[in-house]
Amino acid sequence: MSGRTRRKLRVVFCASEAAPFVKTGGLGDVAGSLPHELRRCGSKVSVILPKYRRIPAEYRDKMNHVADFWMNLGWRNVWCGVDHLNYHSIDYYFIDNEDYFGRDTIYGDFDDGERFAFFSKAITECLGRVPELAGTDILHCNDWQTALSCVFLREFYKGLPGYDNVKTVFSIHNVKFQGQYGDEVMSDICGLADTAAAGQMYTAPKTINFMKGALLYADTITTVSPTYAEELKTPFYGEGLDDIFRDRAWKLHGILNGIDTQEYDPRTDSGIASHYSVDDLSGKAACKAALQEELGLEVDPSRPLAVMVSRLTKQKGCDLVQYALGQLLDRSVQVAVLGTGEGQYEDSLRYFDWKYKGQMCARIDFDSKLSHRMYAGADLFLMPSQFEPCGLSQMISMRYGTLPVVRETGGLKDSVVPYNKFTGEGTGFSFANFNGDEFAATVLNACEVFWTDKDAWEGLMRNAMGADFGWRRAANQYLDAYHDLHPEVIPYNKKRNR
Ligand code: GLC
Repeated sequence: MSGRTRRKLRVVFCASEAAPFVKTGGLGDVAGSLPHELRRCGSKVSVILPKYRRIPAEYRDKMNHVADFWMNLGWRNVWCGVDHLNYHSIDYYFIDNEDYFGRDTIYGDFDDGERFAFFSKAITECLGRVPELAGTDILHCNDWQTALSCVFLREFYKGLPGYDNVKTVFSIHNVKFQGQYGDEVMSDICGLADTAAAGQMYTAPKTINFMKGALLYADTITTVSPTYAEELKTPFYGEGLDDIFRDRAWKLHGILNGIDTQEYDPRTDSGIASHYSVDDLSGKAACKAALQEELGLEVDPSRPLAVMVSRLTKQKGCDLVQYALGQLLDRSVQVAVLGTGEGQYEDSLRYFDWKYKGQMCARIDFDSKLSHRMYAGADLFLMPSQFEPCGLSQMISMRYGTLPVVRETGGLKDSVVPYNKFTGEGTGFSFANFNGDEFAATVLNACEVFWTDKDAWEGLMRNAMGADFGWRRAANQYLDAYHDLHPEVIPYNKKRNR
């Protein structure tokens, strides 16, 4: 496609969360950043989100009501409002329904299946109801909460005026969460019982699977790293859908996420003790001392400080951390963990905090300001995930010159270059197997470099800080995928001359 001028595509990007309006995890970061880069790369992008009560008043107060209609959802007839806000040159449309979104929770309610089936149907309906969305070329859905839009579009809207040109892209951010619900959801809520989808969306008797619907109905499937795209085709990572990924491999693309390089920049971050850059690393020492002080750790530049900022779940490798902590602390490594999650991990981290006062700190909390100070003040960042579709924290830590120790899986493998002591290459450290001793040995190996080879360490910091984790590359790959679905017709005489 390169070399030819491409038509400006009209893209509708939909997700269940997007920063800065509402964010619970990595999906919110991606949906907050990617649409802006797609716009900068030359497409017309609109974003559709639920109008949750939790969206801060500073945004809610500026929204304008632009449409409302009644829409059928199975046998129900439900009201749907659409509010609009232009934010940083992007048109955001918020789907309004007090019953579904006028509550304090985002996910985890008994009726999530119904709430997100409603949201997905409303998205498809909007393409025909909101005049500014007329002529949409690409409907880009993300994760199970918007998966049904791909199914509804083909089953209920294809052939209607305004819908024929729409192609669907479905992005998987985590295949662990698929949106699986009882049989009754199919007919009572989705109204799909008499359609082709009915036979295909089951993953077990009486269990329908929203994500499976999108995998079968979307025109293109993407996931958030090339390695994860390969892993999805295996039983270990595919979470029961690996056969579909193998079958649809021809339309599955892995596109590595980026990060918001303005928000995460040690040259300008207003929340850290001292600024620094790839050309002048000196400020990092002040960040480390300030962090050690703040966390009640011994202020000592010669001790390696390893941090972890994460949801405390099995996926993130908390079992390995729990297993390896004793070995690390006995070698005088300092460790600090920030995050919340499963009780067993929270409790064991509190125990280590108590046992190793002054050397280990557990902050069982969600605190994004402190996370910046940890990214900036640490030497090492621990991320021994069991699986990791992409992972953003390892890229953020590299941006701050904090070297990641990762397991070679998913996006961790695609974004961290392991240290090669013969060439000095690398941006961090990695290990292959999900094994606590291997993890501990890799961290201690990294500490060995920290203790004995200052030049190599600084070289690694510079490599990590210099790596390009901006969104431009990914946005261009998404645009290529969109354009593949809308190949331009080349006039016959031009074809002959090529
Ligand atoms: C999910 C994945 C994470 C990924 C993020 C954004 O949270 O677990 O690996 O970085 O989505 O795509």
